[in-house]
Amino acid sequence: MAERLDNPFVVGRYVGGEYFCDREEETQLLIKQIRNGRDVALMSPRRLGKSGLIHNMFDQPEVKERYNTFFIDIFSCTCLKEMIFLLGKAIYQQLKPKKEMWKDRFFQVISSFRAGIQIDPISGLPSFELGLGDITSPETTLDEIFRYLSQSERPCIVAVDEFQQILKFQEKNVEGILRTRIQNCPNVHWIFAGSQRHLLQGMFFGPSRPFYQSVISLTLQPIPIALYREFAVGLFDKYGKRIFPTIVEETYRRYEGLTWYVQMVMNEIFDISGREISDPKIIDTAVGNILQMQADNYRNQLSLLSPAQKTVLQAIARSGEVAEPTSAEFVGRFSLGSPSTAQSALRRLLSIDTVTRTDTGYRLTDPFFAQWLRLNY
Ligand SMILES: Nc1ncnc2c1ncn2[C@@H]1O[C@H](COP(=O)(O)OP(=O)(O)O)[C@@H](O)[C@H]1O
Ligand SMILES: [Mg+2]
Repeated sequence: MAERLDNPFVVGRYVGGEYFCDREEETQLLIKQIRNGRDVALMSPRRLGKSGLIHNMFDQPEVKERYNTFFIDIFSCTCLKEMIFLLGKAIYQQLKPKKEMWKDRFFQVISSFRAGIQIDPISGLPSFELGLGDITSPETTLDEIFRYLSQSERPCIVAVDEFQQILKFQEKNVEGILRTRIQNCPNVHWIFAGSQRHLLQGMFFGPSRPFYQSVISLTLQPIPIALYREFAVGLFDKYGKRIFPTIVEETYRRYEGLTWYVQMVMNEIFDISGREISDPKIIDTAVGNILQMQADNYRNQLSLLSPAQKTVLQAIARSGEVAEPTSAEFVGRFSLGSPSTAQSALRRLLSIDTVTRTDTGYRLTDPFFAQWLRLNY
């Protein structure tokens, strides 16, 4: 069980135990797929809990005992080399606690990483300082990594978070490069997680695409409100605070159960409250504090946008969700110039994930950012 935290509402990492809410069925469902040799595509809007779910799955005794597990988040990667770098590092980090690893096959099989071994001149102990520059021939390194994984004493599970990012890599045909190797490596199971559903669906359901029908696709839903309410009220209670369940429910509703946002508000409420939390106005106070904390980040994001992109972003933020941001009506109402200007601005905002496409339209990915824009612009 995790140590006692000062604030039990954890944001931005996985702690597990009592600080992790539910996801029991989803965890079992994931395990079942992997046990039966099916790779998985896990989809949901950002910050709903995909990464948390994967960490929770990896944390289960039956998984820990049977598999070697690796997790990489490729959101910031722009080319195959960076992804391979992360994968290599993840494998190394996992091996590190195992004493014998220096004699282990790791550096024998992945010979491209040998350049990264350094011997500390004083202690004589080896350390591993791999730089991106050490990977000079990405596909060779990738082959070595796959060879290493396929020789592993246990089956492996590799989770790649924000997998849709491979579509934006500089190299052509990354899908094909990865798919061929994955197919030839049956003792490695894959979980591909991602938030841009239309991109992932294109990859996995497009008949001409390398990953066509190669996965079971699971769509993560918000944690049910009743379970989250129990969880939050219970955590306040454990820390000697009493919160009206309606305050938890109201927060959940405002952010449509998007886990990170709800947890963030609970985290702030926990910090600013006394022992009795009965006035729902505390939600506004907490959100106000969060928006203030995030203001630098939001200003920074805005500074990277062109005037047309800012105008479109502001118009979408004001509207909440927009079915057709490039329609003549919307373009006219918000003076966005021409539909084609709005179109290219929208395309850019989607590609940097500031705007999200849902089944019913377009909205800002980050509801705090939307709120901040409505207040300040
Ligand atoms: N089941 C959960 N219980 C408590 N907090 C959670 C849970 N799932 C996610 N979170 C919180 O929400 C944040 C966002 O979840 P994450 O798994 O990173 O979302 P995603 O990968 O879908 O973008 C996490 O950092 C964590 O703080
Ligand atoms: Mg994630």
